[in-house]
Amino acid sequence: MAVALSPATTTLRLIKPFSATALRRLYIFYKPKPFFSISLPTISSISSVAAALPLSRRTFCSVIPSAISSGEATKTETLEKKVGEFRKKNKIVDIKGGPDEGLNLVGETVVVKGWVRTLRIQSSVTFIEVNDGSCLSNMQCVMSSDAEGYDQVESGLISTGASAWIQGTIVSSQGSKQKIELKVEKLITIGKSDPSFPIQKKRVSREFLRTKAHLRPRTNTFGAVARVRNALSYATHRFFQENGFVWISSPIVTASDCEGAGEQFCVTTLVPTSGEPGDSPVNAIPKTEDGLIDWSKDFFGKPAFLTVSGQLNAEAYATALTDVYTFGPTFRAENSNTSRHLAEFWMIEPELAFADLDDDMACAAAYLQYVVEYILENCKEDMDFFNTWIEKGIIKRLSDVVEKKFVQLTYTDAVELLLKAKKKFEFPVQWGCDLQSEHERYITEEEFGGCPVIIRDYPKEIKAFYMRQNNDGKTVAAMDMLVPRVGELIGGSQREERLDYLEERLAELKLNKESYWWYLDLRRYGSVPHAGFGLGFERLVQFATGIENIRDAIPFPRSPGSAEF
Ligand code: 4AD
Ligand code: MG
Repeated sequence: MAVALSPATTTLRLIKPFSATALRRLYIFYKPKPFFSISLPTISSISSVAAALPLSRRTFCSVIPSAISSGEATKTETLEKKVGEFRKKNKIVDIKGGPDEGLNLVGETVVVKGWVRTLRIQSSVTFIEVNDGSCLSNMQCVMSSDAEGYDQVESGLISTGASAWIQGTIVSSQGSKQKIELKVEKLITIGKSDPSFPIQKKRVSREFLRTKAHLRPRTNTFGAVARVRNALSYATHRFFQENGFVWISSPIVTASDCEGAGEQFCVTTLVPTSGEPGDSPVNAIPKTEDGLIDWSKDFFGKPAFLTVSGQLNAEAYATALTDVYTFGPTFRAENSNTSRHLAEFWMIEPELAFADLDDDMACAAAYLQYVVEYILENCKEDMDFFNTWIEKGIIKRLSDVVEKKFVQLTYTDAVELLLKAKKKFEFPVQWGCDLQSEHERYITEEEFGGCPVIIRDYPKEIKAFYMRQNNDGKTVAAMDMLVPRVGELIGGSQREERLDYLEERLAELKLNKESYWWYLDLRRYGSVPHAGFGLGFERLVQFATGIENIRDAIPFPRSPGSAEF
């Protein structure tokens, strides 16, 4: 059973507290006018094409500047001019991304610049598939031997991996895969590709591609993941900005351990780094008389670390600006070689003042529904690709997330449920234990059929020092959101705003009160009930694309033993 929150924790908002439906209604109110009601920037040096470029790109993955989304004509015109100044090239999405997939441009002359995916030389014509990353689709370029630059095909200069400038006329395509193709008039190889180019047409494993992280964005899968990741980031800022949150950049170097788990990377200049690694004698590290490391000689005058979370700093700004969020890199030195852990990952951390755990959960649910709906609407081509090749049924699964209510239960109920489960778990369950990934996945995947589940009111012993103690004295106002395939996507809580409770908890956990002096000040001067959560951005990318391993959800993954690239 859920533990009732004490009166002091109930929301003090003058407006109605956050609720998922209210927030989503707000989104609908602010929803940009459809793309087709505005004109796109002039993006071609070939004027006839610019005039005819598609006005809608709804089916392809693209994000639009907010001034365009507001649909104000005059602003859009000014923006068009400014955008046009630097964007003088066509992208494939501009040609093929419209509702008629480029048929409206038949007869126009265009230039395409990109990288050759495949080359098929036939007796009468050569097919060159070119991709520029603006969308999943390639431009099929059909070149006959009388076209200018054909010698580059003959000589082998143009091959898979090469970059090229191709001018031609758009014609309707005979092939079933695309509506249009480019009849090449002129081809210039910009950069040839060595025959050793590792990503040839045959399918290569994701493990292999991890060893080629600098080239893997040139594959369909990694191009699509990068575009959807970008769209999720854009939608994240849009959600919080539309709902009155202020973006705060929290520091990356910090002296405090937010989660108290000691999983931090040390940032130090005590270890000499100027020479070769072999020239770093251990006894060059300054020591105190007792033989301990003399941190007073370090760059910051004390031990400093890469941050594990921006929460404590976000709390400082929430207790001044009311609703804030951070979105930045965080680091954990946990030695977990799993498909859900990275040593460097991005975290989104909203912090809401005058808010309790219910507000926090409603905000988390509304956020997730908003960003998922955003990519379903704006990244159709990439989502269809994931649905076919990565996770069958992902579109249905995500549509359900947008449509259905999330399940909510207490930790105590979750434990009971696991104890009753017919499944044999590797880690035994009892009240007080930390839920493992297998438990989390069982609850969301099997018990609740793939619906996101929020578990609340965890035992205080397994949660961080800053969480607000519930009236039972045993649990804290914490919540984790679990989703299928990933397990924990979000971890959040109402914060302990009562100075005496917080000091007591620090003492219990033997944490040094002095080093939290500024955090305690927030409780000394105008303390308010407040709450927030952290969402691991790469886990969101996993959830939204179906990609199995978190190392494929970030461009250059960092994990134990791996920091190449
Ligand atoms: O649950 P966590 O540890 O919570 C915090 O750090 C809080 N300070 C957040 C807050 O309340 N502002 O981490 C939050 C989320 C997790 O739910 C998970 O999605 C992600 O961060 N996460 C990781 N993602 C990738 N690799 C790791 N090693 C991660 N550790 C946590
Ligand atoms: Mg957590």
